[in-house]
Amino acid sequence: MSEGTIAIGSDHAGPPLKEVLKAELEQRGFTVLDLGTHGEESVDYPDFGRAVGEAVVSGKAERGIVICGTGIGISIAANRIAGIRCAVCHDATSARLAREHNDANVMALGIRMIGTEVALDCLDAFVTTAFSGGERHVRRIEKLG
Ligand code: RB5
Repeated sequence: MSEGTIAIGSDHAGPPLKEVLKAELEQRGFTVLDLGTHGEESVDYPDFGRAVGEAVVSGKAERGIVICGTGIGISIAANRIAGIRCAVCHDATSARLAREHNDANVMALGIRMIGTEVALDCLDAFVTTAFSGGERHVRRIEKLG
């Protein structure tokens, strides 16, 4: 995946990292669909996890990235959208395997859990790694619904 549209969203904890990831994605040739939030005013992560998930399942974006303090709340929100496979990633390995084994279409990051360089490692793995395919992985993903 070298180009296309990536939807990105965060709660109030995430905008600093969201801006870094947006710049990196745009430098790589992606179009970024920024669904907010844009400031420090307290908001509710379910609203932004849902918005990114809906952008992906509707086809407005190929994949999504969501950010909150831990990555957990907003990943739960994204995963409640049918068709979303959102993985909380903490390093390049988890991001790579989320793509290879789970065909994750949304990645969640916790800005209070990992640093910027590790987040960029995750982004690189998430956008450059293809689903490995294979009967067992396809079967398991189909069971997710
Ligand atoms: C907000 O303070 C925090 O709860 C949120 O960013 C996230 O970590 C929830 O899972």
